[in-house]
Amino acid sequence: MSADIIPTIKIERAKDSKISEVDFSNLPFGQVLTDHMFVCDFKDGEWKEPQIKPYQNISLDPSSKIFHYGQSVFEGMKAYKDDDDNILLFRPLENQKRINISSKRLAIPEFPEAYFMEGLKALLKVDSDWIPTKEGSSLYIRPFVFATGNGFHASPSDEYKFIIACSPSGSYFSGKVKVLIEQKYSRSANGGVGFAKAGGNYGGQFYPTQLANEKGYQQVIWTDDTTHEYIEEAGAMNIFIRIGDTLITAPTSDRILDGITRKSIIDIAKDEGIQVEVRRITVNELIEASNSGTLKEMFGAGTAAVISPIAGFGYRDQDYDLPELEDAYAARLKKRITDIQYNRAEDLFGWRLVVE
Ligand SMILES: Cc1ncc(COP(=O)(O)O)c(C=O)c1O
Repeated sequence: MSADIIPTIKIERAKDSKISEVDFSNLPFGQVLTDHMFVCDFKDGEWKEPQIKPYQNISLDPSSKIFHYGQSVFEGMKAYKDDDDNILLFRPLENQKRINISSKRLAIPEFPEAYFMEGLKALLKVDSDWIPTKEGSSLYIRPFVFATGNGFHASPSDEYKFIIACSPSGSYFSGKVKVLIEQKYSRSANGGVGFAKAGGNYGGQFYPTQLANEKGYQQVIWTDDTTHEYIEEAGAMNIFIRIGDTLITAPTSDRILDGITRKSIIDIAKDEGIQVEVRRITVNELIEASNSGTLKEMFGAGTAAVISPIAGFGYRDQDYDLPELEDAYAARLKKRITDIQYNRAEDLFGWRLVVE
């Protein structure tokens, strides 16, 4: 099927809905799955007919390359409903582009924009009742693609499956987190896959994060892999640091994911008149700012948590606390971005997409 043509999406509806079993007032994050999923297979050198099917298990040969060589990338995005029941997406084309950037790095064939966008919109319409309306809740959307070709030869698969699955979700973290600045392990390296949303990047984070958890920290702050002196990301989020009234975030690179929340926050902060610096920042600068009292805030930014304020950080067996601020940038910027996402504020930057 040609990549430029708007695809016809075959829809097979679920016979029974699970929706009545779900407590929408008490949703965990990413645990409850909707009634349907979008599926498209890559075979014989092309993406085949895209389909919406009842949510179901998939069956794979044990020699499928996904199990052995980790050829798998994913995205994370959200759909919202406003007071008039419109279905809204936030900068979805950024996710569409990024999954292809990730795919390319993992030698996975790119997925056509029209398939992604039309498939996503059709799925959201079929599962529209699953989009939560409670404040802070949304429908978390997980597009992903993985190698389904068989055989133990360590080479790219010739077959793939692209799926979009959705999960009505409450907020990701509750409250502020304590983080540990990592001095030994790295999540990514120059020339590596850190900029891609490759499944293995996350698997590799779990063990160092477990060690941090055992020491009483909820998250790890990743530093650069060569010197461990530069601050790069906060768990699976981009990081922002406020020193004085300036907001600083690390520049994206081979090692850092080009976060959509990050770039949106940079634009909103500038619009708020906040001085933003996109530059490398060392752990030493952070410690000095903490010691001199100019370190005012740190927060992670990403689709799942939107903005996750940091209460304090640990570094070389010492803990540093951050002050409690009444006029925190974190709260102000979170309100601005979520007001745009939920259609409560003017869409100054043209980021909202109404699904029609
Ligand atoms: C490693 C990493 N950094 C940053 C982000 C934030 O990106 P976004 O704002 O596009 O969700 C994510 C989440 O997707 C991530 O996995």
